[in-house]
Amino acid sequence: MRVLGLQGSPRKKGNTYYLLTQFLEECQKQGADIQLVDVCRKKIEPCMEYILCEKKGICPIDDDMKRGIYSMLRRADVIVTATPIFFYNTTAQLKALIDRTQTLWARKYKLNLTDPNRLWRKGFTLAVGATRGKNLFEGLHLTMKYFYDAVGASDVGSLTYRQIEKPGDMQRLPSLQQDIETAVTALLLPFQGRKKVLFTDAAGSCLAQMACAFTQLIAGDRMDAVCAGFQPSDRLDPVMVQVMEEKGIDMGFRDPLSVEDALSGKTPDIAISVGDVPHHDVLPGSLRFDTWNFQASEDIYQMRQVRDAIEARVKAFIQQSA
Ligand SMILES: Cc1cc2nc3c(=O)[nH]c(=O)nc-3n(C[C@H](O)[C@H](O)[C@H](O)COP(=O)(O)O)c2cc1C
Repeated sequence: MRVLGLQGSPRKKGNTYYLLTQFLEECQKQGADIQLVDVCRKKIEPCMEYILCEKKGICPIDDDMKRGIYSMLRRADVIVTATPIFFYNTTAQLKALIDRTQTLWARKYKLNLTDPNRLWRKGFTLAVGATRGKNLFEGLHLTMKYFYDAVGASDVGSLTYRQIEKPGDMQRLPSLQQDIETAVTALLLPFQGRKKVLFTDAAGSCLAQMACAFTQLIAGDRMDAVCAGFQPSDRLDPVMVQVMEEKGIDMGFRDPLSVEDALSGKTPDIAISVGDVPHHDVLPGSLRFDTWNFQASEDIYQMRQVRDAIEARVKAFIQQSA
Protein backbone atom coordinates (compact mmCIF):
# COMPACT_ATOMS: atom_id res chain seq x y z
CA MET A 1 0.00 0.00 0.00
CA ARG A 2 1.68 3.19 -1.22
CA VAL A 3 0.64 6.68 -0.14
CA LEU A 4 1.96 9.64 -2.12
CA GLY A 5 1.76 13.08 -0.47
CA LEU A 6 1.89 16.23 -2.61
CA GLN A 7 3.03 19.18 -0.47
CA GLY A 8 1.78 22.32 -2.22
CA SER A 9 2.94 25.14 0.08
CA PRO A 10 6.00 27.26 -0.72
CA ARG A 11 6.65 27.54 3.04
CA LYS A 12 9.21 24.95 4.05
CA LYS A 13 7.77 24.20 7.49
CA GLY A 14 4.40 25.94 7.35
CA ASN A 15 0.90 24.77 8.19
CA THR A 16 0.40 22.59 5.12
CA TYR A 17 3.73 20.87 5.63
CA TYR A 18 2.88 20.11 9.26
CA LEU A 19 -0.59 18.80 8.41
CA LEU A 20 0.69 16.58 5.60
CA THR A 21 3.64 15.15 7.51
CA GLN A 22 1.40 14.29 10.49
CA PHE A 23 -1.05 12.65 8.09
CA LEU A 24 1.68 10.62 6.34
CA GLU A 25 3.17 9.55 9.68
CA GLU A 26 -0.22 8.13 10.66
CA CYS A 27 -0.44 6.34 7.27
CA GLN A 28 2.96 4.79 7.95
CA LYS A 29 1.85 3.77 11.44
CA GLN A 30 -1.10 1.99 9.84
CA GLY A 31 1.18 0.03 7.47
CA ALA A 32 1.62 2.21 4.37
CA ASP A 33 4.78 3.00 2.42
CA ILE A 34 4.89 6.78 2.21
CA GLN A 35 6.50 9.28 -0.14
CA LEU A 36 6.35 13.09 -0.01
CA VAL A 37 6.84 15.33 -3.05
CA ASP A 38 7.69 18.93 -2.12
CA VAL A 39 5.99 20.37 -5.19
CA CYS A 40 7.34 23.94 -4.90
CA ARG A 41 10.90 22.61 -4.87
CA LYS A 42 10.40 20.57 -8.06
CA LYS A 43 10.88 21.76 -11.62
CA ILE A 44 7.36 21.64 -13.01
CA GLU A 45 6.55 23.81 -16.01
CA PRO A 46 2.96 24.93 -16.57
CA CYS A 47 1.04 23.27 -19.40
CA MET A 48 1.85 24.88 -22.78
CA GLU A 49 -1.02 23.25 -24.69
CA TYR A 50 1.23 21.39 -27.11
CA ILE A 51 -1.65 18.87 -27.24
CA LEU A 52 0.74 16.02 -27.97
CA CYS A 53 -0.88 14.28 -24.99
CA GLU A 54 -4.16 14.04 -26.85
CA LYS A 55 -2.50 12.45 -29.86
CA LYS A 56 0.25 10.33 -28.33
CA GLY A 57 -0.41 10.27 -24.59
CA ILE A 58 2.88 11.98 -23.73
CA CYS A 59 3.96 15.51 -22.80
CA PRO A 60 7.06 16.84 -24.58
CA ILE A 61 8.11 19.05 -21.65
CA ASP A 62 11.29 17.66 -20.09
CA ASP A 63 11.02 18.34 -16.35
CA ASP A 64 10.31 16.56 -13.06
CA MET A 65 6.86 15.43 -14.23
CA LYS A 66 8.57 13.31 -16.85
CA ARG A 67 11.46 12.47 -14.51
CA GLY A 68 9.39 10.66 -11.92
CA ILE A 69 6.17 12.39 -10.90
CA TYR A 70 3.94 10.74 -13.54
CA SER A 71 5.33 7.34 -12.44
CA MET A 72 4.80 8.15 -8.74
CA LEU A 73 1.17 9.06 -9.43
CA ARG A 74 0.72 5.76 -11.25
CA ARG A 75 2.32 3.69 -8.48
CA ALA A 76 0.32 5.26 -5.67
CA ASP A 77 -2.69 3.54 -4.11
CA VAL A 78 -3.54 6.79 -2.35
CA ILE A 79 -2.74 10.36 -3.41
CA VAL A 80 -2.91 12.93 -0.61
CA THR A 81 -2.89 16.49 -1.94
CA ALA A 82 -2.09 19.22 0.60
CA THR A 83 -2.30 22.95 -0.07
CA PRO A 84 -2.79 26.32 1.57
CA ILE A 85 -5.65 28.26 0.03
CA PHE A 86 -4.32 30.96 -2.30
CA PHE A 87 -7.17 33.02 -3.79
CA TYR A 88 -9.73 30.27 -3.11
CA ASN A 89 -7.75 27.48 -4.75
CA THR A 90 -4.40 25.63 -4.72
CA THR A 91 -1.03 27.36 -4.97
CA ALA A 92 0.18 28.06 -8.51
CA GLN A 93 2.98 25.49 -8.16
CA LEU A 94 0.52 22.72 -7.31
CA LYS A 95 -1.84 23.91 -10.04
CA ALA A 96 0.98 23.51 -12.58
CA LEU A 97 1.33 19.85 -11.52
CA ILE A 98 -2.43 19.40 -11.74
CA ASP A 99 -2.62 20.93 -15.23
CA ARG A 100 0.16 18.66 -16.42
CA THR A 101 -1.88 15.58 -15.48
CA GLN A 102 -3.88 16.46 -18.58
CA THR A 103 -1.51 13.87 -20.08
CA LEU A 104 -3.10 11.17 -17.91
CA TRP A 105 -6.58 12.56 -18.64
CA ALA A 106 -5.85 12.32 -22.38
CA ARG A 107 -4.64 8.72 -22.13
CA LYS A 108 -7.99 7.81 -20.57
CA TYR A 109 -10.44 10.05 -22.42
CA LYS A 110 -8.78 10.57 -25.84
CA LEU A 111 -6.84 7.33 -26.28
CA ASN A 112 -9.32 5.14 -24.37
CA LEU A 113 -6.65 3.49 -22.23
CA THR A 114 -7.41 2.37 -18.69
CA ASP A 115 -4.81 2.50 -15.93
CA PRO A 116 -5.07 -0.92 -14.17
CA ASN A 117 -5.27 0.73 -10.72
CA ARG A 118 -7.94 3.24 -11.66
CA LEU A 119 -10.80 1.43 -9.92
CA TRP A 120 -9.04 1.21 -6.57
CA ARG A 121 -6.88 4.34 -6.21
CA LYS A 122 -8.11 6.97 -3.72
CA GLY A 123 -7.56 10.73 -3.55
CA PHE A 124 -7.69 12.71 -0.28
CA THR A 125 -7.27 16.47 0.20
CA LEU A 126 -5.75 18.50 3.05
CA ALA A 127 -6.15 22.29 3.04
CA VAL A 128 -5.75 25.32 5.28
CA GLY A 129 -6.83 28.96 4.86
CA ALA A 130 -6.52 32.13 6.91
CA THR A 131 -10.10 33.37 6.83
CA ARG A 132 -13.34 31.91 8.14
CA GLY A 133 -15.38 32.28 4.92
CA LYS A 134 -18.12 29.74 4.31
CA ASN A 135 -17.05 29.16 0.70
CA LEU A 136 -13.32 29.05 1.40
CA PHE A 137 -12.74 25.53 0.06
CA GLU A 138 -15.38 25.41 -2.70
CA GLY A 139 -13.06 26.27 -5.60
CA LEU A 140 -10.47 23.80 -4.33
CA HIS A 141 -12.97 20.94 -4.03
CA LEU A 142 -14.05 21.39 -7.64
CA THR A 143 -10.46 21.43 -8.91
CA MET A 144 -9.59 18.35 -6.83
CA LYS A 145 -12.59 16.41 -8.08
CA TYR A 146 -11.34 16.71 -11.66
CA PHE A 147 -7.67 16.25 -10.71
CA TYR A 148 -8.45 12.91 -9.06
CA ASP A 149 -10.46 11.84 -12.07
CA ALA A 150 -7.53 12.70 -14.37
CA VAL A 151 -5.06 10.67 -12.30
CA GLY A 152 -7.48 7.75 -11.94
CA ALA A 153 -8.53 8.08 -8.30
CA SER A 154 -11.83 8.41 -6.47
CA ASP A 155 -12.19 11.59 -4.48
CA VAL A 156 -12.90 10.13 -1.05
CA GLY A 157 -12.59 13.03 1.37
CA SER A 158 -10.75 15.93 2.90
CA LEU A 159 -9.65 17.63 6.09
CA THR A 160 -9.90 21.42 5.81
CA TYR A 161 -9.09 24.04 8.43
CA ARG A 162 -10.10 27.71 8.57
CA GLN A 163 -8.36 30.52 10.49
CA ILE A 164 -4.93 28.99 10.03
CA GLU A 165 -2.49 31.70 9.04
CA LYS A 166 0.90 31.96 10.74
CA PRO A 167 3.40 29.09 10.93
CA GLY A 168 2.61 27.16 14.11
CA ASP A 169 -1.18 27.71 13.94
CA MET A 170 -1.74 24.11 12.88
CA GLN A 171 0.23 22.68 15.81
CA ARG A 172 -2.09 24.45 18.24
CA LEU A 173 -5.24 22.71 16.99
CA PRO A 174 -6.40 20.38 19.79
CA SER A 175 -8.49 18.05 17.59
CA LEU A 176 -5.84 17.51 14.90
CA GLN A 177 -4.33 14.15 15.89
CA GLN A 178 -7.79 12.64 16.42
CA ASP A 179 -9.04 14.04 13.08
CA ILE A 180 -6.04 12.53 11.31
CA GLU A 181 -6.29 9.12 12.98
CA THR A 182 -9.99 8.82 12.10
CA ALA A 183 -9.49 9.95 8.49
CA VAL A 184 -6.46 7.70 7.86
CA THR A 185 -8.18 4.64 9.34
CA ALA A 186 -11.15 5.09 6.96
CA LEU A 187 -8.91 5.94 3.99
CA LEU A 188 -6.65 2.89 4.33
CA LEU A 189 -9.32 0.39 5.35
CA PRO A 190 -9.99 -0.88 1.76
CA PHE A 191 -6.27 -1.66 1.36
CA GLN A 192 -5.72 -3.47 4.66
CA GLY A 193 -5.42 -7.25 4.46
CA ARG A 194 -4.72 -7.43 0.71
CA LYS A 195 -2.36 -10.27 -0.27
CA LYS A 196 0.98 -8.96 -1.54
CA VAL A 197 1.95 -10.65 -4.81
CA LEU A 198 5.33 -10.16 -6.47
CA PHE A 199 5.66 -10.99 -10.18
CA THR A 200 9.18 -11.24 -11.56
CA ASP A 201 10.98 -11.80 -14.82
CA ALA A 202 14.56 -11.15 -15.88
CA ALA A 203 14.25 -7.46 -16.83
CA GLY A 204 10.92 -6.47 -15.20
CA SER A 205 9.80 -5.02 -18.49
CA CYS A 206 7.48 -7.54 -20.12
CA LEU A 207 5.94 -10.76 -18.77
CA ALA A 208 5.86 -9.72 -15.10
CA GLN A 209 4.42 -6.35 -16.12
CA MET A 210 1.54 -8.02 -17.94
CA ALA A 211 0.75 -10.39 -15.05
CA CYS A 212 0.91 -7.51 -12.58
CA ALA A 213 -1.34 -5.24 -14.68
CA PHE A 214 -4.00 -7.96 -15.13
CA THR A 215 -3.94 -8.73 -11.39
CA GLN A 216 -4.32 -5.04 -10.51
CA LEU A 217 -7.11 -4.59 -13.02
CA ILE A 218 -9.13 -7.65 -11.97
CA ALA A 219 -8.36 -7.97 -8.26
CA GLY A 220 -6.71 -4.79 -7.00
CA ASP A 221 -9.19 -4.74 -4.13
CA ARG A 222 -7.95 -8.11 -2.86
CA MET A 223 -4.33 -8.17 -4.02
CA ASP A 224 -1.45 -5.74 -3.81
CA ALA A 225 0.38 -6.75 -7.00
CA VAL A 226 3.86 -5.45 -7.77
CA CYS A 227 6.41 -6.50 -10.37
CA ALA A 228 10.17 -6.40 -10.71
CA GLY A 229 13.14 -7.59 -12.71
CA PHE A 230 16.35 -9.12 -11.42
CA GLN A 231 18.28 -6.88 -13.80
CA PRO A 232 15.72 -4.15 -14.50
CA SER A 233 15.81 -2.70 -17.99
CA ASP A 234 15.47 1.06 -18.52
CA ARG A 235 12.19 0.85 -20.41
CA LEU A 236 9.19 -1.37 -21.02
CA ASP A 237 9.10 -3.82 -23.93
CA PRO A 238 7.38 -1.83 -26.74
CA VAL A 239 5.67 -4.89 -28.25
CA MET A 240 4.19 -5.76 -24.85
CA VAL A 241 2.96 -2.17 -24.45
CA GLN A 242 1.31 -2.35 -27.88
CA VAL A 243 -0.52 -5.64 -27.28
CA MET A 244 -1.75 -4.44 -23.87
CA GLU A 245 -2.99 -1.21 -25.45
CA GLU A 246 -4.92 -3.29 -27.98
CA LYS A 247 -6.91 -4.51 -24.98
CA GLY A 248 -7.34 -0.95 -23.71
CA ILE A 249 -4.85 -1.40 -20.84
CA ASP A 250 -2.60 1.56 -20.14
CA MET A 251 1.02 0.60 -19.39
CA GLY A 252 2.21 4.22 -19.48
CA PHE A 253 4.64 5.47 -16.80
CA ARG A 254 5.24 2.00 -15.35
CA ASP A 255 9.01 1.75 -14.92
CA PRO A 256 10.80 -1.59 -14.56
CA LEU A 257 11.85 -1.83 -10.90
CA SER A 258 14.35 -3.88 -8.91
CA VAL A 259 12.94 -6.38 -6.40
CA GLU A 260 14.04 -4.11 -3.51
CA ASP A 261 12.27 -1.06 -4.97
CA ALA A 262 9.12 -2.99 -5.79
CA LEU A 263 8.83 -4.47 -2.30
CA SER A 264 10.02 -1.45 -0.23
CA GLY A 265 11.14 -3.73 2.59
CA LYS A 266 7.91 -5.77 2.71
CA THR A 267 7.79 -9.56 2.26
CA PRO A 268 5.31 -10.78 -0.36
CA ASP A 269 2.77 -13.48 0.49
CA ILE A 270 3.55 -15.11 -2.84
CA ALA A 271 6.28 -14.60 -5.44
CA ILE A 272 5.60 -15.75 -8.99
CA SER A 273 8.31 -16.02 -11.59
CA VAL A 274 6.42 -15.38 -14.83
CA GLY A 275 9.39 -16.04 -17.12
CA ASP A 276 11.00 -19.41 -17.62
CA VAL A 277 13.92 -18.77 -15.25
CA PRO A 278 12.95 -18.88 -11.58
CA HIS A 279 15.05 -16.64 -9.31
CA HIS A 280 13.49 -17.60 -6.02
CA ASP A 281 16.83 -18.02 -4.27
CA VAL A 282 17.47 -14.26 -4.31
CA LEU A 283 14.02 -13.31 -3.00
CA PRO A 284 13.32 -12.51 0.64
CA GLY A 285 11.50 -15.30 2.52
CA SER A 286 8.15 -15.29 0.74
CA LEU A 287 5.54 -17.68 2.04
CA ARG A 288 4.90 -19.29 -1.37
CA PHE A 289 6.73 -19.48 -4.71
CA ASP A 290 5.44 -20.37 -8.14
CA THR A 291 6.86 -20.49 -11.68
CA TRP A 292 4.65 -19.89 -14.71
CA ASN A 293 7.10 -20.53 -17.56
CA PHE A 294 6.00 -18.00 -20.17
CA GLN A 295 8.30 -16.76 -22.89
CA ALA A 296 8.28 -13.29 -24.44
CA SER A 297 8.51 -12.80 -28.18
CA GLU A 298 9.43 -9.95 -30.51
CA ASP A 299 6.71 -11.16 -32.87
CA ILE A 300 3.47 -9.31 -32.24
CA TYR A 301 1.24 -12.26 -33.17
CA GLN A 302 3.00 -14.49 -30.65
CA MET A 303 3.02 -11.72 -28.05
CA ARG A 304 -0.78 -11.46 -28.33
CA GLN A 305 -1.02 -15.18 -27.55
CA VAL A 306 1.32 -14.79 -24.58
CA ARG A 307 -0.79 -11.85 -23.33
CA ASP A 308 -4.01 -13.88 -23.54
CA ALA A 309 -2.40 -16.89 -21.87
CA ILE A 310 -1.09 -14.73 -19.02
CA GLU A 311 -4.53 -13.16 -18.60
CA ALA A 312 -6.12 -16.63 -18.34
CA ARG A 313 -3.44 -17.75 -15.87
CA VAL A 314 -3.97 -14.65 -13.74
CA LYS A 315 -7.74 -15.25 -13.68
CA ALA A 316 -7.22 -18.87 -12.56
CA PHE A 317 -4.72 -17.74 -9.93
CA ILE A 318 -7.15 -15.17 -8.56
CA GLN A 319 -9.94 -17.73 -8.44
CA GLN A 320 -7.74 -20.24 -6.59
CA SER A 321 -6.65 -17.58 -4.12
CA ALA A 322 -10.19 -16.38 -3.37
C1 LIG B 1 -0.79 34.66 -2.14
C2 LIG B 1 -1.66 34.27 -1.00
C3 LIG B 1 -3.02 34.12 -1.19
C4 LIG B 1 -3.85 33.74 -0.14
N1 LIG B 1 -5.19 33.62 -0.37
C5 LIG B 1 -5.99 33.25 0.66
C6 LIG B 1 -7.40 33.15 0.47
O1 LIG B 1 -7.94 33.36 -0.63
N2 LIG B 1 -8.18 32.81 1.53
C7 LIG B 1 -7.63 32.56 2.76
O2 LIG B 1 -8.38 32.26 3.70
N3 LIG B 1 -6.29 32.64 2.96
C8 LIG B 1 -5.47 32.98 1.95
N4 LIG B 1 -4.11 33.06 2.16
C9 LIG B 1 -3.54 32.68 3.49
C10 LIG B 1 -2.98 31.25 3.55
O3 LIG B 1 -3.90 30.32 3.08
C11 LIG B 1 -2.65 30.89 5.01
O4 LIG B 1 -1.74 31.81 5.56
C12 LIG B 1 -2.10 29.48 5.19
O5 LIG B 1 -2.10 29.13 6.57
C13 LIG B 1 -0.68 29.33 4.67
O6 LIG B 1 -0.31 27.98 4.81
P1 LIG B 1 1.21 27.47 4.78
O7 LIG B 1 1.82 27.87 6.10
O8 LIG B 1 1.13 26.02 4.62
O9 LIG B 1 1.87 28.12 3.60
C14 LIG B 1 -3.28 33.47 1.13
C15 LIG B 1 -1.90 33.59 1.32
C16 LIG B 1 -1.09 34.01 0.27
C17 LIG B 1 0.40 34.13 0.50
